[in-house]
Amino acid sequence: MNIHLMLCCNMLTPPIFEHITQAIAQNGYCIIDNALPANTAQALHQHMSNIPAKDFKGMGVGRANELHVDQTYRSDTSLWLDGIHTAEQNYLQWMEQLRLAINQRLFLGLFTYEAHFAHYAPQSFYKRHTDAFQGLSNRKLTTVYYLNPNWATDDGGELAMYADEKSSNAFQTVAPQMNRLVVFLSESFPHEVLPAHKDRYSIAGWFKLGKH
Ligand code: OGA
Ligand code: MN
Repeated sequence: MNIHLMLCCNMLTPPIFEHITQAIAQNGYCIIDNALPANTAQALHQHMSNIPAKDFKGMGVGRANELHVDQTYRSDTSLWLDGIHTAEQNYLQWMEQLRLAINQRLFLGLFTYEAHFAHYAPQSFYKRHTDAFQGLSNRKLTTVYYLNPNWATDDGGELAMYADEKSSNAFQTVAPQMNRLVVFLSESFPHEVLPAHKDRYSIAGWFKLGKH
């Protein structure tokens, strides 16, 4: 068999993962509508709706030994996926396929993935921040996946993305539509979550370099 053919045509990688990989290579980010199979998206939404609100906890901001909940910076609550429920397993398997596809083409060395459900109650927000700082973190690639059926334009709650630290105007404002996925290089894009008029649900996840 021709070695070149073997390297360039991987029949096992579905087109959506190729698409995301190429967009990350070219632009550093990607926004995909109807990302997961419709039944997986629906099952995740159903599963998440059944989780009691009290299981979602306020996020600590700061170093591990000085954890505190700073509601002036972010006011969402969250719950880590543990992969026990089938819907979570399907989601994590999809992300595993993405990890493998990206590692085949790019040299990010993605190793592990961690993700949490996030709930933004009405008027909640997450001020402008970067998920990783160059050299300080092993977070390489961020995923944000939205679980909000029938989100209307005037519901707010957009993810605003900035091209770099200096820019004050967002180059993308992304509504948190059901089954929409945003993927971006964690070190490259400052971003913020704008307040919404109604409950806003997402799964935020990070591909990381090492095991921790
Ligand atoms: C985060 C985050 C964005 C969103 O959790 O770090 O930036 O749109 N989330 O929910
Ligand atoms: Mn973030």
